[in-house]
Amino acid sequence: MTDVTAFSTPRLTGRRALVTGSTSGIGRSIALALAGEGAAVVVSGRNTDAGTAVVEEVRSAGGAAHFVHADLSGGGPATIELAKAACEAVGGPIDLLVNNAAVLVPAQSLTEADERIIDAALSVNVKAPALLVAAFVPAMVEAGGGVIVNIGSISGAVGSPVSALYGATKAALHSLTASWAAELASKGIRVNAVAPGPTMTDENAAFHDMLRSLTVSTPEGRPGTSAEVADAVVFLASEQATHIHGVTLPVDGGYLAAR
Ligand SMILES: NC(=O)c1ccc[n+]([C@@H]2O[C@H](COP(=O)([O-])OP(=O)(O)OC[C@H]3O[C@@H](n4cnc5c(N)ncnc54)[C@H](OP(=O)(O)O)[C@@H]3O)[C@@H](O)[C@H]2O)c1
Repeated sequence: MTDVTAFSTPRLTGRRALVTGSTSGIGRSIALALAGEGAAVVVSGRNTDAGTAVVEEVRSAGGAAHFVHADLSGGGPATIELAKAACEAVGGPIDLLVNNAAVLVPAQSLTEADERIIDAALSVNVKAPALLVAAFVPAMVEAGGGVIVNIGSISGAVGSPVSALYGATKAALHSLTASWAAELASKGIRVNAVAPGPTMTDENAAFHDMLRSLTVSTPEGRPGTSAEVADAVVFLASEQATHIHGVTLPVDGGYLAAR
């Protein structure tokens, strides 16, 4: 019989997590959820005031969090600096990495995607996750394990007339998820992704009606919430997912299933 006390046991006690782009939105919810499960969390992004507020929210609830400023459009040096500072902030190697930060490219036709937007989207959405994984994996291997969760999108799985570039970066992240899982599973490192559908956050409140209309014909008929995405990340990060490698888990109310 299942012991009901097990349900209240924090699932990530002792883990050291970095959540990129956790100053707002889905990343903020992920940081709060991981901390709520006992992980020491590094909150990161460009907005120091917002990041500090997330850290205070975690601490006031009894959790452990630290803010590390980072601009992931800066390429190698900025990303390596974040990796180093994150380990210092939590007093040891990061063993749980959530690649969440993204440039949400505005709706545009292919002729509007100038080189600056292409470079920014590729830098933050693809290059930074790849550099962070390369930075953290050696210590994970040495420690005998670790977990990486990438935040993809249903946009990485469907064609769109207005978000080719954004969708391509998310498709790249889904592909990296499968390949990294294949390369790292034998070393005790699990790599998975979550692909949210249209998701309501505090920051996109002005678009909630638009998100509702976008999802009215999906199986569940509503947008998701950032907390629902965070719950999926917690599950994939936890010991309840020890045999799961390389999946991209849609959290989309059935959007992809019904295409
Ligand atoms: N909301 C949705 O409907 C939805 C659907 C599918 C997938 N997603 C995915 O979910 C993730 C979070 O999206 P969201 O809706 O929560 O968006 P958001 O509120 O705009 O959050 C994006 C985060 O990324 C950070 N970020 C952006 N550019 C950065 C840079 N150059 N350097 C460092 N950090 C940077 C931002 O922090 P700073 O501003 O502090 O830098 C922010 O914390 C993204 O990967 C997105 O693609 C969202």
